[in-house]
Amino acid sequence: MADLLKNQVAVVTGAGRGIGAATARLMAAEGARVVVSDLDAAPAEAVVAEIEASGGEAITVAGDVTDPAFPDRLMKAAVDAFGKLTVLVNNAGYTWDGVIHKMTDAQWEAIVDVHLSAPFRMIRATVPYMREVAKAEMAAGNKPEQRSIINISSTSGLHGNAGQINYAAAKMGIVGMTKTVAREWGAFNIRCNAVAFGAIETRLIKAKEEGESISVHGETVTLGIPQQARDVLTMMIPLGRTAVPEEAAGGILLLASPYASYITGHTLEVTGGYGI
Ligand SMILES: NC(=O)c1ccc[n+]([C@@H]2O[C@H](COP(=O)([O-])OP(=O)(O)OC[C@H]3O[C@@H](n4cnc5c(N)ncnc54)[C@H](O)[C@@H]3O)[C@@H](O)[C@H]2O)c1
Repeated sequence: MADLLKNQVAVVTGAGRGIGAATARLMAAEGARVVVSDLDAAPAEAVVAEIEASGGEAITVAGDVTDPAFPDRLMKAAVDAFGKLTVLVNNAGYTWDGVIHKMTDAQWEAIVDVHLSAPFRMIRATVPYMREVAKAEMAAGNKPEQRSIINISSTSGLHGNAGQINYAAAKMGIVGMTKTVAREWGAFNIRCNAVAFGAIETRLIKAKEEGESISVHGETVTLGIPQQARDVLTMMIPLGRTAVPEEAAGGILLLASPYASYITGHTLEVTGGYGI
């Protein structure tokens, strides 16, 4: 157990599996108390059990990030459990791919909702516990505590990606949102950064042929990318390989840590060099 995030309380959305789960484990190992939030309660509870077994502290708050009432409930649960909130990682999401001429409004809206509108509502829901608390600390003549928000973007947003017009638009939108939060809340010592991932080995980039899926508002959406696309993608990565979720979590931890105390408004590319 190390202490890069000692005294920090982190909310991580989509933390039941993949990158979010690795981030929750790593942050807890670095001393943060962690709120493991996910649509699916069972995997989130399993992550909490692992954290507790390693001597860390965590709770589960299950819910859908696209439910407009959920962000307030989530932030309140974090503060009720751990007394404060200092880190938010907007990570939850999935892909629902389709070429432009076949993309439905439902497909477009669902992906923009989960990757853009939900993170906005999450950020707004931190106001009483981050912005207002920092303001009060300043009014009392103190330097506000370290607080930070990390939004998850993608190379599909930064460079575009055929078959992902909904996802690419949302993932680039979050870069603009990140810079805006950085500008508005920098004065309160609240940093806001994004991490754009390339190919991280989770069910999102598994071979589509393996057939993992997510159920969204009664609709079953197949996740993953075709095996051929995986092969081409890997060839375009300078490091010559995809990453494990722990390497993705490392990028998030870096931005939440005190070593990033003067970094805000930045989009960190954790891509193995893809797209440079
Ligand atoms: N894996 C990659 O290569 C890659 C690349 C770029 C960006 N990303 C982004 O990283 C983030 C994490 O993805 P991952 O690869 O770990 O996928 P994942 O499917 O392994 O994990 C995502 C988690 O988010 C949860 N989730 C999905 N919709 C939700 C909702 N509406 N409310 C609450 N929770 C919800 C899922 O239940 C799941 O546990 C996503 O934002 C994704 O777009 C991933």
